[in-house]
Amino acid sequence: MDWGMKNRISRIIKPDTGRAVMLAVDHGYFLGPTSGLEEPGKTIKPLLAYADSLMLTRGVLRNSVDPRADIPIVLRVSGGNSIVGEDLSKEAITVSLQDAIRLNVSAVALSVYVGSKYEHQTLKNLADLVSECEGYGIPVLAVTAVGREMVRDAKYLSLACRIASELGAHMVKTYYCEDFEKVVKTCPVPVVIAGGKKIPEKDALKLAYNAVNEGAAGVDMGRNIFQSKDPVGMIKAVRDIVHKKATPDKVYKELKLGK
Ligand code: 5RP
Repeated sequence: MDWGMKNRISRIIKPDTGRAVMLAVDHGYFLGPTSGLEEPGKTIKPLLAYADSLMLTRGVLRNSVDPRADIPIVLRVSGGNSIVGEDLSKEAITVSLQDAIRLNVSAVALSVYVGSKYEHQTLKNLADLVSECEGYGIPVLAVTAVGREMVRDAKYLSLACRIASELGAHMVKTYYCEDFEKVVKTCPVPVVIAGGKKIPEKDALKLAYNAVNEGAAGVDMGRNIFQSKDPVGMIKAVRDIVHKKATPDKVYKELKLGK
């Protein structure tokens, strides 16, 4: 791995702890104005200081993030689908590498839909993107998206993560599941977890805690942070779990959730 690639990865996975707190705010690319992200700039601004990196689309980056912000960018470069469209798995690469470089990204992210109708297309997207990114030292984060019909168990997620890594992904984003250790053990590149749909804060904190204790390199969390009644408190709490080994019980007490 060359210097540029290593340097960019170290902006996302912090070398002092070997872990990452990524803030995911890319949901609009297929969900439109997701609850909590109606005005992305307002949501993102107070959270930036506590995120190691920001995962988002180029539209939100250009329009809602101050270009002077000191935050590594993980740019979503797949899409072309929508929640009301034909099939969620029908994704294409939506950003040229030239534009990603102009936006000074630290990594690019793309979804793969293993087992779905357009599985081949999305895996080919990944392989092509990795081949292109290798030439510029830009890491690729593969997101193992789960179509409505797929079961999120260790058997399926380890299959999807392993395939993504075999095709050259430098990092993989997936879901936490029972026997998560198996997913991490059989995937040769760092694995971060998505938070998934909003769940009670304590459960989301336990999810992050269990994931890192079972081998995840961190979280790439969105809705469980920005849809919380205390988004800043939540990202700080997640940060303490990921980087400082804090327990969910301890950090939960600091949240200001009101009644
Ligand atoms: C979908 C995605 C998301 O848009 C997002 O990044 C997920 O984050 P969370 O589940 O924590 O809200 O990657 O495949």
